[in-house]
Amino acid sequence: MKTTRSRCLILSVVLMCGLLPEVTADDEEASDGLGGTQEPIWLTDVPAAVRLIGAAEVAMIGFFPDLETPIVSIFRSMAQQFQDVSFGISNSSEVLTHYNITNSSIRLFRLVDNEQLHLDAKDIENLDAAKLSRFIQMNNLHWVTEYSPMIAAGLFNTMVQTHLLLMMNKASPEYEASMRRYQETAKLFQGRILFVLVDSGRKEHGKVISYFKLKESQLPALAIYDTVDNKWDTVPIPEVTVEKVQGFCEGFLKGELLRDHRAEEGAGKEEL
Ligand SMILES: *[C@@H]1O[C@H](CO)[C@@H](O)[C@H](O)[C@H]1NC(C)=O
Ligand SMILES: *[C@@H]1O[C@H](CO)[C@@H](O)[C@H](O)[C@H]1NC(C)=O
Ligand SMILES: *[C@@H]1O[C@H](CO)[C@@H](O)[C@H](O)[C@H]1NC(C)=O
Repeated sequence: MKTTRSRCLILSVVLMCGLLPEVTADDEEASDGLGGTQEPIWLTDVPAAVRLIGAAEVAMIGFFPDLETPIVSIFRSMAQQFQDVSFGISNSSEVLTHYNITNSSIRLFRLVDNEQLHLDAKDIENLDAAKLSRFIQMNNLHWVTEYSPMIAAGLFNTMVQTHLLLMMNKASPEYEASMRRYQETAKLFQGRILFVLVDSGRKEHGKVISYFKLKESQLPALAIYDTVDNKWDTVPIPEVTVEKVQGFCEGFLKGELLRDHRAEEGAGKEEL
């Protein structure tokens, strides 16, 4: 158990490496926005809320019995920052009752693992825009989530213990078609495996790639790991197809490893 723990610790340290500087960079990127005109959708009845939540990979809903609290404008401003998240807001007692909510509550509903995260009245008291923005950045997991140190922290914070990384250069001509197939495969593993893209074109991601003993020449490649067990595996994937990705995932879940790197265990530690 000891080696398992330290192994996962090293992995999480590698993946989250550079978390602090990245936070500021992401904040700037996010607030630049693309147009930044999204407003939360006003949810006046239960079907509207159910529809919004059901259709979004990630939905943020603000349930506010009293709209005269400062958090409401902070919450609204987030909709402009996160264009890939659906925002809703409600003060309807019918809607609040449906979700068993009696006081202010901000909830993130996520499809990829059917998770619902809460910020309740107590948390909201001390919430400012920076904290709420960080909460969304960290938990904004989609069918395929693009890797960043902040997202790595979010990945390790889920109940899903297996994560799959596709390491590929976003500038490559095959990128878009590959992503479509990768995303299609992700839906087959809802709640079982989280799918991540690591843009190998960004040199700061070199540490992640070398952690899995992969060389530039072997990319694109898949790396899969278990956050509880000390297992991980990799396979180069010159062409990303649903069959190949699915086969690799199912093999790993069954305990088959393509690559025996027990002997490499020591080397992983020296890297730090
Ligand atoms: C919800 O907010 C609207 C607009 O401020 C207001 O007209 C309405 O009375 C509020 N509803 C409840 C149940 O408080
Ligand atoms: C609300 O609470 C009731 C009783 O505790 C529970 O049966 C129901 O599933 C809850 N509804 C939601 C949407 O969580
Ligand atoms: C709602 O939460 C706030 C902050 O925790 C608290 O002061 C207030 O009493 C709560 N209101 C109700 C109706 O529970």
